Amino acid sequence: MDELERRLNLSRAALGEIPPDSVITNAHSFNALTGEFIKGQTIWIKDGRVAYAGSDHNFVKDHQTQVIDAEGMALLPGLIDGHTHTVSNRCGFEEFIKHVIPTGVTTLVTETIELATVVGRDGFEYLVKGLEGQPLRFYYTLAPLCGLTLEEEVNAPANEELLPFLKNKKCVGIGEIYWGNLFLENEQGERVRELVAIALEMGKLIEGHTAGASGRKLQAYTDFGISSCHEPITEEEVLERLRLGYWVMIREGSIRKELPGVAGIFKKEIDFRRLILSTDGVDPEGFLEEGYLDASLRSALKMGVPPQLAYQMVTINVAEHFRLDHLIGSLSPGKAADIVIVPSPGDYSPQMVMCDGKIIFKDGKSFVKPRKVFFPESMFHTVNIQNHNLSPLPTHGKARAIELVSRLVTRENIIDLDHAEEAGEVMMILALDRCGSGQGFMGFLKGFGLRRGAYGTTMSWDTPDMIVVGCDTPSMKTVIERLKENGGGGVYAIGDEVISEFPAPLCGLSSLKPMEKIRDEIKRLEASLRENGVPWEKPVLTVDTLGSPAIPHLRITHHGYVRLKDRKILSIEP
Ligand SMILES: [Fe+2]
Repeated sequence: MDELERRLNLSRAALGEIPPDSVITNAHSFNALTGEFIKGQTIWIKDGRVAYAGSDHNFVKDHQTQVIDAEGMALLPGLIDGHTHTVSNRCGFEEFIKHVIPTGVTTLVTETIELATVVGRDGFEYLVKGLEGQPLRFYYTLAPLCGLTLEEEVNAPANEELLPFLKNKKCVGIGEIYWGNLFLENEQGERVRELVAIALEMGKLIEGHTAGASGRKLQAYTDFGISSCHEPITEEEVLERLRLGYWVMIREGSIRKELPGVAGIFKKEIDFRRLILSTDGVDPEGFLEEGYLDASLRSALKMGVPPQLAYQMVTINVAEHFRLDHLIGSLSPGKAADIVIVPSPGDYSPQMVMCDGKIIFKDGKSFVKPRKVFFPESMFHTVNIQNHNLSPLPTHGKARAIELVSRLVTRENIIDLDHAEEAGEVMMILALDRCGSGQGFMGFLKGFGLRRGAYGTTMSWDTPDMIVVGCDTPSMKTVIERLKENGGGGVYAIGDEVISEFPAPLCGLSSLKPMEKIRDEIKRLEASLRENGVPWEKPVLTVDTLGSPAIPHLRITHHGYVRLKDRKILSIEP
């Protein structure tokens, strides 16, 4: 249907000249634009859009018009997750979508980092194709593929190659761009600065990542046209960014839950229209045990955030940030009929979900199936390690080590290997290029706590490196061989015995098994790591992030440690 025909039909339906396809009556409807809940509302739907929203109950109808009585129920616009990761949740697309459908999230803006970090352009291409024709509405941000050093950006396509992906209507902008990378003086910095300029000229948005930045640094970064950030963890950080013009996304998902830390912001007498609630991705355990953005929303409501504000943070505010409010974010004439029916404003438990005027979920049952997504065989064979040598580490004297100061943050530490207690706390850490160069770097890791065996992952953030941490080299070798056999994922082994594992053959990042099975495999893996001494919650995530420039301070690559502050490559020798 062309645009003119659609608009004419909508207009004629509103005038009562033609019957709507569906009508929802007697609703306690949320007007996201004014923040009001209004009783006795009726929504007339035609061709997947809202034709009329108001108190007029005299609609024309024919035998095909579907009438839904929402007596006593509240009506909301479909939720929008403004920042999510569909791949780093460790399961396939279809499985992810299947589980999002009952949550009332009808639009998702997904990052595209993961597959492209491993396979470059193909990673974007197949992901973008997979987002089309699904029962939910998808948009994407094009990942800038910021690595620690140039070598981790080996798969990043040249900016010209990215133009078709940027021009795509479904692309809303450049994905989260680490602030430190934008300031790099070498060609690494040049590439992303140029990409930002191209995107801005095309009218696209630039999504930020400002963890740890403040004052002049933050403002200098904002000067590059950055319009959002999902990293603030305190009320002060939220306020500083709101004042600079950011759309602040409060992250409430599996990586971190920021609502308690930023709660004070809701008591301020400021304008909240640039405040957004998003997940930044939810892992299978979180998904199945708490939920998706619906769970984040329930947490906000439980914390005392007024329902009007909570719902605006997941509907109109997100739509306005992405300049999609002409289509989604509110239930007003001409907008998409993306609708969630819940028992009351304070009880977010979807009874019915509609996307584009079509019921996709009702009374505990889904009515649509995700479209099957195709990935080429080559994307299931990405662990390319031919020859590798586990070079021996020094046993005496001083050595440089990565020390975990929390489950994600690290620091540089010089350890004394002659000091028995300190030597007992360190283990080996190996970063191994899995793109075929055979290069690896072996260093020390303190504070992970593992007492026996080795754990390794190919699910590393922002790098195609495999990362293995271990107490002895035979266990590390078993892990490497098993990861090669499985096509990637996570493996824990003691000696030559594999104790637990999560095979993730799609680019070494995702499994195509049911979400429940994936949750069980990861839980077992994490339980065995904890039983063997690891004190951290979600230890799999701890290792996944050791090669990422997203988190300070000392990280690892296959050519050495990297100090995030100055991107200096450092060796074992202090
Ligand atoms: Fe993210």
